[in-house]
Amino acid sequence: MALTPRPPWEGKRIVLGVTGGIAAYKSIQLARDLTRLGATVDTVLTRSALSFVAPLAFEGVTGRPALTDLFSAEGAALHIRLGRDADVVCIAPATADVLARAAQGRADDLICTTLLATRAPVVICPAMNDRMFAHAQVVRNLEHLREELGYRIEGPAEGALAVGEGEGPGRMLEPWQITEAIGRALAAGPPFEGRSVLVTAGPTHEPIDPVRYVGNRSSGRMGYAVAQAAWRRGGRVTLVSGPSALDAPYGVERVGVETALEMREAVVERAPEVDVAVFAAAVADFRPSEARDRKVKRTETGASLTLDLEENPDVAIESRGVRREGGVRVGFALETDDLVENAARKLEAKGFDLVVANDATEEGAGFGVSTNRVTILDAGGGQDVLPLLSKDEVAEHILDRVAVLLQGGSHG
Ligand code: CTP
Repeated sequence: MALTPRPPWEGKRIVLGVTGGIAAYKSIQLARDLTRLGATVDTVLTRSALSFVAPLAFEGVTGRPALTDLFSAEGAALHIRLGRDADVVCIAPATADVLARAAQGRADDLICTTLLATRAPVVICPAMNDRMFAHAQVVRNLEHLREELGYRIEGPAEGALAVGEGEGPGRMLEPWQITEAIGRALAAGPPFEGRSVLVTAGPTHEPIDPVRYVGNRSSGRMGYAVAQAAWRRGGRVTLVSGPSALDAPYGVERVGVETALEMREAVVERAPEVDVAVFAAAVADFRPSEARDRKVKRTETGASLTLDLEENPDVAIESRGVRREGGVRVGFALETDDLVENAARKLEAKGFDLVVANDATEEGAGFGVSTNRVTILDAGGGQDVLPLLSKDEVAEHILDRVAVLLQGGSHG
């Protein structure tokens, strides 16, 4: 993720409550990332948190005093100000103790009083030993916070716990995932909230034999950025992805595929239910006519090898016929020549409402880089030429345009 100030974090006030768990060290990274994304972060540490991390660490990364006392020199009713001014309150890590106190509405420290004073969305990221997490009382407290108070419970993840404690559900989410969860608390709303979004991403690998394939240089970054941004806006997002080294976007269902044929199947099956489809995958246009089931040996081929290739299905075109009425379809066009003409032709031929065109020969655009320079074309002939941006920023621009179409805006 590009850590420069940008929506939905930019200019927002975030109260970060840190309680006494070993995962507190990760919250320093979280505070830093949120600050770099342009948020004003007020850290509130409980007394037990001080056994794990120092206020100075948070001050260093947020540039603001870290707060610990309910009654302090910061002035009276600090908790009221914090709660009132916050756009989001996040507790990470949230121990079993703070869950119990929050569920009871206790007001015995600064973070719990802030919870009572705020009307902003609350994001809770539990972290504890897996046996504690499974305890009926903890389960009940979490249910109460979620169902009765409307708090967003994010995680815990399954994985390695503190040293000697083995593995299990109880591990705090990673900082970038919490950043995304906070982003969703800030950004979710109409028209994406509750809508179903499908994104294709990555390359496809077309097998030659069990160890070799025909593929391309796509990293998947652009599609992954779109999927993550759509989730932040409140969408229910499925990402049909070819092979990619990237982490699955947080909150998104990732369906992994290898080949164009598999991608077609995954997309066509889901297309009728989809409100927004974004085709960001670099699908291989051809596949070896025959995938050998044994490794091709040099002793068999001699000094040259000829591959017979046959055309792959076009995933975008094949899903066109089963599209949902009123659904919005966005395609990409990667070109080396006649960018706008070729992209406009693809918009027409593939039934897209928008096409995001980029020039593969331009520096900082296209495959394998974290930036992109694109022109967005619409069905009315409009062209929106964007400057060089991070792929995360390009994703926001695309979704802004999709939002207008979802709200029944003109295509022109
Ligand atoms: N696409 C697809 N299935 C394919 C090929 C392309 O769904 N088999 C989609 C891409 O995800 C993209 C759009 O169609 O949204 C255009 O892809 P691109 O590779 O630029 O175009 P092609 O149709 O393959 O044309 P060409 O390679 O000749 O430029």
